[in-house]
Amino acid sequence: MCGIVGYNGSEQAAPILLEGLSRLEYRGYDSAGLAVRNASTPIEIVKAKGRLRVLAEKTNDGEALHGTCGIGHTRWATHGEPSENNAHPHASDDRTVVGVHNGIIENYQELKEKLLRHDYVFYSDTDTEVALKLIHYYMGKYAGGPVDSIARAMTRIRGSYALAVMFAEYPDEIFVARKDSPMVIGVTDGACYIASDVPALLKYTRSVYYIGNQQIARLGKGTVSFFDIDREPVSVEQTEVKWDAEAAEKGGFEHFMIKEIHEQPKAVRDTLHSLIKEDHIDLSGTGLTDEDLRKYERIHIVACGSAYHVGLAGQYIIEDLARMPVRVELASEFRYRNPLLTDRDLVIVISQSGETADSLAALRLAKEKGIETLGIINVIGSSIAREADHVLYTLAGPEIAVATTKAYSAQLAAVYVLAVQAALIRGCIDEEKYKELLNEMEQLPAKMERVLEDKERIQWFAAKYSNARDMFFIGRGIDYAISMEGSLKMKEISYVHSEAYAAGELKHGTISLVENGTLVVGVCTQNHLFEKTRSNMVEVKSRGAYLMGLTNYGNYSIEDTADFTVYIPRTDAHFTTSLAVIPLQLLGYYLSVARGLNVDKPRNLAKSVTVE
Ligand code: F6R
Repeated sequence: MCGIVGYNGSEQAAPILLEGLSRLEYRGYDSAGLAVRNASTPIEIVKAKGRLRVLAEKTNDGEALHGTCGIGHTRWATHGEPSENNAHPHASDDRTVVGVHNGIIENYQELKEKLLRHDYVFYSDTDTEVALKLIHYYMGKYAGGPVDSIARAMTRIRGSYALAVMFAEYPDEIFVARKDSPMVIGVTDGACYIASDVPALLKYTRSVYYIGNQQIARLGKGTVSFFDIDREPVSVEQTEVKWDAEAAEKGGFEHFMIKEIHEQPKAVRDTLHSLIKEDHIDLSGTGLTDEDLRKYERIHIVACGSAYHVGLAGQYIIEDLARMPVRVELASEFRYRNPLLTDRDLVIVISQSGETADSLAALRLAKEKGIETLGIINVIGSSIAREADHVLYTLAGPEIAVATTKAYSAQLAAVYVLAVQAALIRGCIDEEKYKELLNEMEQLPAKMERVLEDKERIQWFAAKYSNARDMFFIGRGIDYAISMEGSLKMKEISYVHSEAYAAGELKHGTISLVENGTLVVGVCTQNHLFEKTRSNMVEVKSRGAYLMGLTNYGNYSIEDTADFTVYIPRTDAHFTTSLAVIPLQLLGYYLSVARGLNVDKPRNLAKSVTVE
């Protein structure tokens, strides 16, 4: 999704803005631009289609643009094709209002028609140009200044936005507004910084303000004040970011994705240690009590993409351990389905970013219906974290690669803890079993490290199959949930067509796609289902498939069937996802590398999907 940065201080702004944008590259973009000025100079705008380096070349790494106050943007096209003309910053025709925007303005057509009636003309296809010209219109009509005109525009705009705006008549200030799109503000001695996400600020400060929904901020050189939509001053708390800057660097790895794959044991260890204290699960930080866990009759897990796959695994685990009915649903479906919810239900929204538009909308729907909500979230202070009744923070640290790995693993760990605690409280397991499960969980990080040691074999296999065109991942029960995640990793970063199937379902149609050489990965970590899945593997092999098996150490009979096998250490059957997912992440990663693709920033994808 689009990235916004801003700087207002005493240094030259453009190099700082370019550096900030480079930290947001992982969000995905197709064009970029800067607007910079000094107190006595007009606002200068430079834009470029394509990668950030094109913009850097055009501005001589920012040196060619003079000014100590500026805003920058990377655009991920929603309204209008990727082009220099549609790239941000956008401006009113007299260039007195210049701004950048992240989000989607749903009623932009209606607003555009209003402005056309007032003789405005439009040079781009973007909703952003409409928003800025609306602010310009109110500046002229009411002459109430920037905060007033932005607030008036906000009352007319429907949709989501994070806006950073400069006004010709207010040379030493930047104005920011947001609704349902993330925006962070950093203030140091003599300077202010703006960014869509924390990694762009870490180099300068860890003290940040998360501007609230439907609020406006006025940034001077080292000062910030906040207003609500009625233009009344409001106070916003300063928050200390705990992530260190190094966590957002590659640290010697070739790509963020492989670095983050290696950080998974730590992400899981840190998350577990924040929830397990003195051999007992402690959910007090989330606000969830034992009484709550006893009271809920049903759980709905709502999420998108990989977070949804965590939910799918969670469904098997929670239902089996805590004997509670769990329904898992894609947030984009849940939000428009008028779901049947009762006041004894709990809606769990899982999200790394905490900003995914569909997940946020699903959370709001549940809250509107008066249902209790829990967010399992990685980004502290994000919208879902702020709006959910209860929050369980995963401690994966900043995740930069577009394809999630460590956040997924940390989310799984969080789900295990919830499942085990609910199982104990609801009397489904005794204290002895509880201790045994905690002990198994504690051992997961070390076992994950062991799986990582086997990476060369997977690298070799991926290189051998780098020309694969179609792939299938099959498994039953939890192994089906793992297959879904393995298949998504393959599609998103390696661009190999792949499908995940419940192994028993293949023969109801899909098996007709299997032909000589089709690669099929059989996931068999659930011992009670091992023989069943293995016989499905035999079925595809007899139709010419090349088989990769993924199972626990000890299940060596799989070698009678599979052409290549990867083993994972044994653990409790409920927790195998944490180990089995790693070889599948590595397979996707190494295949993408072998094909020479942009692993960390796959085409068409964005890290944080803040539009519908
Ligand atoms: C896949 C991936 C996406 C995200 C999905 C939800 O590797 O990263 O499928 O899982 O977009 O994002 P969050 O967790 O930020 O809500």
